[in-house]
Amino acid sequence: MSAPVDLKAEQRATLSSPRRPYGLLARLLFLGMDLVYGRKRTLKKFTVLEVIARVPYQAWEHVAYIAMTHTYAQPGFARRVFEFVKESRAQQDNEQWHLLILEELLHKDGVKESFFLYRLAPQIAAFAYYHVSWLLYAINPSHSYALNADFEDHAEHEYMEFVRDHPELESRPFKSEFEKDYGRFASLADLFRNIGLDERHHKLESLARIDAPRFS
Ligand SMILES: [Fe+2]
Ligand SMILES: [Fe+2]
Repeated sequence: MSAPVDLKAEQRATLSSPRRPYGLLARLLFLGMDLVYGRKRTLKKFTVLEVIARVPYQAWEHVAYIAMTHTYAQPGFARRVFEFVKESRAQQDNEQWHLLILEELLHKDGVKESFFLYRLAPQIAAFAYYHVSWLLYAINPSHSYALNADFEDHAEHEYMEFVRDHPELESRPFKSEFEKDYGRFASLADLFRNIGLDERHHKLESLARIDAPRFS
């Protein structure tokens, strides 16, 4: 059994490390989000982040399936691409739990959302971001991984700073329909620390793929 994670130590590690030097596309995305949703970190804004967060993994999965189509004569390559597909799927599923848990929390708190800003606009942004991720991957996979690493680094810091700025989360228990899918945590503070830690793992997985052979 693996040792329990010290989530407070993980939060301190994020808060004491600088953000990545974000590329132009990532900076434009974060600026656009700040302009539309405000600079303040809120659960509502995090749901937008999570809708967008899934799509690079979907884009890579799609590209990998295309690459795997006629590879029966190269079983080693086919298996390697299939492993890549499974990892991309696990990452998008992880983002999906983040999104479901956030939406459940907002619903419980009775927070009202504008249909345009929190339903339609994120899907439009995700559609565009999917194609950017796909196109960058087709040109050079490293570009797509670097953009995703920026996105995940930003998400990691945003969640950890959100917890830092809201000490009241320490005394709010985490009760969710999705506990058995995602995990149990003593408080909402720990839940968000864990989500931030997931984003760090996603970042590190993307960074590890930069300069690695395709689909490895
Ligand atoms: Fe996420
Ligand atoms: Fe992520």
